[in-house]
Amino acid sequence: MACVLLTGGNGYIGSHTTAVLSERGHDVIILDNFSNSGRDVPDRLRRLTGKTFPIIEADIRDTATVTAALAEFPIDAVIHFAALKAVGESEADPLLYYDMNIVGTIRLLEAMQARNIRRIVFSSSATVYGQPDFSPIPEDAPTRVQNIYGRTKLVMENLITDLARTGKLLGAANLRYFNPVGAHPSAMIGETPAGVPNNLMPYVCQVASGIRPFLQVFGSDYDTPDGTGVRDYIHVMDLAQAHAAAVEHLLANDTAFTVNLGTGIGISVLDLVHAFEHANKRKIEYKIVPRRPGDVASYFANPEAAEKLLGWKARLGIEEMCRDAWVWEAKRGGINDV
Ligand SMILES: NC(=O)c1ccc[n+]([C@@H]2O[C@H](COP(=O)([O-])OP(=O)(O)OC[C@H]3O[C@@H](n4cnc5c(N)ncnc54)[C@H](O)[C@@H]3O)[C@@H](O)[C@H]2O)c1
Repeated sequence: MACVLLTGGNGYIGSHTTAVLSERGHDVIILDNFSNSGRDVPDRLRRLTGKTFPIIEADIRDTATVTAALAEFPIDAVIHFAALKAVGESEADPLLYYDMNIVGTIRLLEAMQARNIRRIVFSSSATVYGQPDFSPIPEDAPTRVQNIYGRTKLVMENLITDLARTGKLLGAANLRYFNPVGAHPSAMIGETPAGVPNNLMPYVCQVASGIRPFLQVFGSDYDTPDGTGVRDYIHVMDLAQAHAAAVEHLLANDTAFTVNLGTGIGISVLDLVHAFEHANKRKIEYKIVPRRPGDVASYFANPEAAEKLLGWKARLGIEEMCRDAWVWEAKRGGINDV
């Protein structure tokens, strides 16, 4: 069993990974500055798992505090979630993103090096593929980042790969997530987007709960089966299991790799709307509006490498994603008839 430190472990994907790692018998330490996650999450995790996880409240850029904190625990590996992640904000404030994501990662790696912690799992994103030539997208597809957020992910991947290549890290996993959605089936933890959601599933949930009157579907004339954009949605619990599998793989093998984490199944906007309606017996009003600039028709993973390397495969389908996302949203909003 391992002791794993999760930067950003209080956030959406980090909190689900905490629950899964704990269930698989690992010790979890959380390092988070709470800039994008609730103060109630540690207590929710305690009630969910029956365990209290040590929390280091710090910014990853604060090397002195992070280095001191890393000495307190026998840490075998780090999963590095902490980052800023809004594409629009990254274009509005590039230096903030370069500082938080890239400088932050360098500071974290320095602190790890000072404590001889030499295994890392990194939260990358399928956004590094930009406009792919085709889907399913394999890991060796060209990387064509379209925005500053995506560029920071690619720089961080390269940084980590270089440290592994030069022997500074013993184990390194770059995990390229497709579209994480859903929540823990207990509805005790989930996603809490601030303001108007950027992503489809939280938006659909807010239409279902009456916070928003209707969903805007951007474009119905794409070259896809129903004309709406196709993406690869992956249940956050499957994603969390993949992180546990990646950590366990790094602890058993000194290796570096980059893999896609997706289901490999393309789901259109209207597929998702209909699956949501079917799973939750709620009507989702929507309006077709013009395409958004920069959107790609179809974007889904070839997930075979992760299966081959880690023995991991996404198990949960779109209905489970819609159901768990909605139960979480409804519970938060005080809606009882779910
Ligand atoms: N959610 C997605 O759709 C998605 C897709 C692809 C990749 N990712 C990546 O996965 C990771 C986790 O995403 P998430 O959706 O869970 O985000 P999130 O915002 O819910 O979680 C990130 C956590 O990191 C913390 N944090 C941010 N900056 C920090 C800093 N400088 N120091 C310490 N803590 C800090 C936040 O408080 C938050 O708890 C991010 O790196 C993100 O870029 C997310």
